[in-house]
Formats: sequence, structure tokens, C-alpha cells
Amino acid sequence: MHHDYVIKNNKFILTPVTEADIELMRGWRNSPLNHSSFLTNNYIDMDQQKRWFENYLQKTNDIMFIVKDLEDSGKRVGMLGLYDIDNDKNKKKAEFGRLLIGEPSTRGKGLGLAVTLNLCKFGFQILELDEIYLEVITDNVTAHKIYKKAGFLETERYSINGKEIIKMSLFKENF
Ligand SMILES: CC(C)(COP(=O)(O)OP(=O)(O)OC[C@H]1O[C@@H](n2cnc3c(N)ncnc32)[C@H](O)[C@@H]1OP(=O)(O)O)[C@@H](O)C(=O)NCCC(=O)NCCS
Repeated sequence: MHHDYVIKNNKFILTPVTEADIELMRGWRNSPLNHSSFLTNNYIDMDQQKRWFENYLQKTNDIMFIVKDLEDSGKRVGMLGLYDIDNDKNKKKAEFGRLLIGEPSTRGKGLGLAVTLNLCKFGFQILELDEIYLEVITDNVTAHKIYKKAGFLETERYSINGKEIIKMSLFKENF
């Protein structure tokens, strides 16, 4: 969706995804380095990516950010978002995901955990969500570790397309 939210600290800045970012994002998603991390890893061509972005802009329940590394002159290094935002009056919830630190040289210095924590804070404080949930493939040890550190708790396990999935949730009162 169109949004103007910006989330910033001294290490990174999260800014709205623009059309100028989508080819970079496509490169990250198509990289063999990330194939085992996501449920779907079909090759995305330029037209599919453009259609995805047009469709994304029309949505009112999908907020994506680009991660810019302030320790590397604000270089664009990754992405993440909150989507399927459900504004049910009794329980506002959203799915966390599309987390990717695409630049290998930027991995392993705590950015993945830091952006996860800050997006959850934004979800609870600004979007006033009650619950944020996510799915992670069991083999994705790094991502699973980040989510546990952020406070997500396992709620379910199941298989999709032969991949074992862990569903996890984080509630406002436990954050
Ligand atoms: C998952 C991902 C976002 C993590 O980004 P990152 O910036 O490297 O994460 P962090 O630096 O915060 O590191 C997270 C932790 O995982 C650890 N880690 C890194 N690689 C690891 C590995 N192969 N096995 C186990 N732990 C690992 C780090 O040491 C760190 O733990 P620590 O804080 O106890 O040292 C990044 O690897 C990525 O983009 N992966 C591909 C896409 C993906 O998996 N997305 C999530 C889909 S659910």
C-alpha cells in the first residue's frame, strides 16, 4: 500500500518500498542463496515483479519497507513487511514476513534481529496490533533464532509442499 511511515535508529532506516526498489528486491528473491528460506521460490521475472508491485500499491493491508544500512552510507540491504493486516475490533493482527537481508556482506551483524524488533514495535505501537504472527521453515535456523529472540512463541507445526513449517505468534502484552 502507499504509506509514508519511516522507522529509524542509529544503525538503519526503514523506508516505504518504491518502484525504484523492486528490481533490487527481485534480485534478492531470485538469488539461489535465499531459495531454501521461503515457501515459494519460483523465478520471478520483471513483469511479474511489476504486477506484484502494482497489486501491492492497491492493497490497504500490506506495509512493506526497504532496509537501509546507516553504517554503510544508507545502502539498501534488505526488506520486510507486515501484511494481511486484519483490523478486527476484538483482535487486530497481522502477518510478519518477507524478511530478507539480501546483501551477504551485511548478514550476521544483528540487522535481521534489529529490524524484526523495530517492525514489531511499530506494529504494536503505531498500528495498534494485538498479535503479530509468522511462518518459518524449520530448517531456517537463523530466522527461527531471530524470531525466538524477538519473543515469538511457537503455536503450531505443519507441512506445506513437503516443507515443515513452524507458526509463531507474538502478543502485544508480551512484547
Ligand atoms: C534470516 C536473515 C534475515 C538474518 O539476517 P541477519 O542480519 O544475518 O541476522 P542477525 O545478524 O540478526 O543474526 C541472527 C542470528 O543468527 C545467527 N546465525 C547466522 N547464521 C547462522 C547459521 N547458519 N546457523 C545458526 N545461526 C546463525 C547469528 O549469529 C545471530 O545470532 P546471535 O545474535 O546469537 O549471534 C538473513 O539471513 C536472510 O535474509 N536470510 C534469507 C531470507 C530468510 O531466511 N528470511 C526469513 C524467512 S522466514
